[in-house]
Amino acid sequence: MDFLVKSSSVETLKTSALVLTVNEQLQLDTQGQLIDNLCAGAITAHLKAGDIKGKLGQTLLLHNLANLKAQRVLLVGIGKDEHLSDRSVRKLISSVLNIFKSLSIKDAALAFAELTIKDRDAYASTRLISECLADGLYVFDQFKSEKAPATQLKKITFVSTKEQQNQVSSACEHGKAIAAGMAFTRDLGNMPPNICHPRYLAEQAKQLAKQHKKLDVEVLEEKQLKALGAGALLAVAQGSDQPPRMIIMNYQGADKSQQPYVLVGKGITFDSGGISLKPGAGMDEMKYDMGGAASVLGTFKTLLELQLPINVIGVLTCAENMPSGGATRPGDIVTTMSGLTVEILNTDAEGRLVLCDALTYVKRFNPQAVVNVATLTGACIVALGSNTSGLMGNNPELVASLLSAGTKASDVAWELPLFDDYQEQLDSPFADIANIGGPKAGSITAGCFLSRFTKDYPWAHLDIAGTAWISGGKEKGATGRPVPLLSQYLLDRVQ
Ligand code: BES
Ligand code: MN
Ligand code: ZN
Repeated sequence: MDFLVKSSSVETLKTSALVLTVNEQLQLDTQGQLIDNLCAGAITAHLKAGDIKGKLGQTLLLHNLANLKAQRVLLVGIGKDEHLSDRSVRKLISSVLNIFKSLSIKDAALAFAELTIKDRDAYASTRLISECLADGLYVFDQFKSEKAPATQLKKITFVSTKEQQNQVSSACEHGKAIAAGMAFTRDLGNMPPNICHPRYLAEQAKQLAKQHKKLDVEVLEEKQLKALGAGALLAVAQGSDQPPRMIIMNYQGADKSQQPYVLVGKGITFDSGGISLKPGAGMDEMKYDMGGAASVLGTFKTLLELQLPINVIGVLTCAENMPSGGATRPGDIVTTMSGLTVEILNTDAEGRLVLCDALTYVKRFNPQAVVNVATLTGACIVALGSNTSGLMGNNPELVASLLSAGTKASDVAWELPLFDDYQEQLDSPFADIANIGGPKAGSITAGCFLSRFTKDYPWAHLDIAGTAWISGGKEKGATGRPVPLLSQYLLDRVQ
């Protein structure tokens, strides 16, 4: 999808479909009025006849209006509020897309310059809209014999004012890059787990590096992981026929002397629970347990498109969690890369195990900050549902930056407390720590576990168990979150 920004007059705009807004008071904006005047009040006549009420997301498609360069006019309702919420914008864009998809048009134009979204300026509004448009066209039909017909729509023009043209253009560029990152993340997540295993993820990272000079990828295999003492990662992988991989992506966008930002993603390509086997119902969705790793890969895709002038390291810590005669047992004690010993009381709490070795490994990069991303706990879905990611950390400034990035990117997170009082739940009679706490505050005790390995740098943990994919139903599938949040965080690090 190409986005174009034009500040020329809306009346002279040649397009297959010009989208105009109408509110519940049946008012057009200035651009709409210009068009209405040009076609001798044809639009007002439709409003008067009650053909559209202006309800949010309601649409009316008009053909052959006199004197217009636009082949069609699509009226879309924006409701009665003066300022739209992000949620309303998503609904609005999705109705517009539904019409676009039903037509075989190649281009369209949006006259949205006067549309105001709560707490968003022209840049932030266009960012949200362009991202919704590009992401809304995503399809995953690789494994269908009959493919969905590919959309013809190739170009969307934003009609902007002269003053806002630069902001709107850069918002489109960023929105498009973020949507591309999300699409990559969604593809990886939706991929079946017989195909998407740790070696497949390594291959994806290497492919990215082939296409981009600023990216280097190194893949650590079992032998190297053993030499490094990655006992926790290896313990998770040992029940599976799929070998583990630690994938290190090094993007150098600035001088070597600049400390990197580090993103660490949980890459469990299938989580059966191991010997602490999960119940069967819905177990297929545990293919999404590599959503953290996929979102780091997606964020790198965005980063590479935008060529941001910062240094970023991505670490994907990948394994398959399966039960077998060789699998880790509840009660096993392993030594992590940090030297801390862990009593594995529940083999289904494997995410923190693969993460802890990666979090120790990244110390060597002297990071400015480390953010790990993981579909870590079912408890996070109980606490926050599927709209909001969980956030914990050891550095208030970093946590604040991530919260703000989430709000700006419309990909929100909420902080859970990592108070010391929770730490004692991890006491073990036999090892330095246990890998699970009690039944209370499961997301926080998982965060506490990670915090034992992240004392040497500013660190935060995003629990995306609820947000990485939509579970069941017609909409089932990876969401591409938290690529917008992470990309925004990196955009905010520039300058
Ligand atoms: N990958 C799961 C967490 C999860 C569950 C994410 C459901 C999304 C939906 C993780 O590995 C896990 O199994 N966590 C356990 C931890 C428990 C054993 C302490 C959980 O949440 O039940
Ligand atoms: Mn698990
Ligand atoms: Zn898991």
